[in-house]
Amino acid sequence: MDVLVTGGLGYIGSHTVVALAEAGYSPIIVDNLCNSQAWIHARLEQLAGQAIPFYRVDCTDRLALAQVFEQHPNVQAVVHFAALKAVGESTRHPLEYYQNNLGSLLAVLQAMQQQHVGILVFSSSATVYGEPEKLPVTETTPLQAPTSPYGATKAMAERIIADAVQANPQLRAMALRYFNPVGAHPSARIGELPQGTPNNLVPYMTQATRGVVPDLKIFGHDYATPDGTPLRDYFHVVDLACAHVLAIDYLAKAREGLPLQFVNVGAGTPVSVLQVVETFRQATGQPLPYRFAPRRAGDVEAIWCDATLAKNLLGWQPEYTLADALLHAWKWEQTLGEQEIPA
Ligand code: NAD
Ligand code: UD1
Repeated sequence: MDVLVTGGLGYIGSHTVVALAEAGYSPIIVDNLCNSQAWIHARLEQLAGQAIPFYRVDCTDRLALAQVFEQHPNVQAVVHFAALKAVGESTRHPLEYYQNNLGSLLAVLQAMQQQHVGILVFSSSATVYGEPEKLPVTETTPLQAPTSPYGATKAMAERIIADAVQANPQLRAMALRYFNPVGAHPSARIGELPQGTPNNLVPYMTQATRGVVPDLKIFGHDYATPDGTPLRDYFHVVDLACAHVLAIDYLAKAREGLPLQFVNVGAGTPVSVLQVVETFRQATGQPLPYRFAPRRAGDVEAIWCDATLAKNLLGWQPEYTLADALLHAWKWEQTLGEQEIPA
């Protein structure tokens, strides 16, 4: 089956392209390179051992997107990653976020409708749960008002897809609500490529260890958690990639008229920032200096998921440990140090 992967050169998209190829699917990538590098494409072909068509197309460009679908009439599924994802930036440039994230989704849905493509897997986020009252969160945990334009685009996107599915029984869709994917491919050939100073914990840690950025600042150690630092649900990006493959397998067999399915994807284990630091030190043997800093605006104290539905519906469970993920992230970071513009 041909699967169109929007944002397929990005962090999660690139790992998913490899997982799709390994599972026997034929991925086709659409990416405008606004947050990724063209050389990742060659690496994906090497890892997958097959040619992977790539189109440098902005998903908000309906005509260009329609042309890609026309060139690949056997596309039967879309995995839609293409979005802007920096929470802080979204508060400064909200219109850009609504335009890009919702414009691309609408264009993808319209193209799918025109070409009668019936399977959609969408990248949603734990951010839709806000600061939950009860933990762990299940898919029925009430959603909270989004705290950033980025979060709002995810909540709105879920609504848009639910409405599209309701109106078109042939469209079967799943919104995977990712918790905290971290790590890199075990080969260290692909991984996260943050532009500028990283916002997220693990790329900041690996860059601090390589000396690219100053020591790690832990944002707040006065939370009501066992060691005072916030709790999250970290898991390996390759396990997340596999969840997309299983989601397509599931939707391909699902009945028509199925409502939009929401599925949490996380390890289901709360881990504090200090525990991540300690696991990183043990897994890599690197000292990783840190200091405490004030809380970061918008951070929630604790969030982790109940991933039972992912297991029961998709047969998904994580294969890698957090130590694996942090070691792989560090190996990837080291390759960037060796060769900034790799072939
Ligand atoms: P990423 O920025 O590495 O990948 C996104 C890719 O989409 C990039 O290659 C970018 O160039 C491309 N892109 C963006 N807008 C586009 C457009 N209009 N047309 C074509 N290409 C476009 O991000 P990621 O971490 O891989 O995230 C993938 C998806 O998962 C996003 O939708 C993100 O919101 C969601 N998500 C990520 C996380 C996380 O922790 N990384 C957590 C929850 C949800
Ligand atoms: C963040 C976003 C979330 C998004 C996700 C993936 C916010 C509030 N949430 O999640 O919407 O889906 O990234 O892009 O931005 N930390 C430090 N020092 C650092 C970096 C992070 O102490 O330099 C801490 C944070 O305070 C947090 C934890 O590490 O407690 C994880 O942070 P991060 O990796 O940014 O993920 P989230 O905040 O969970």
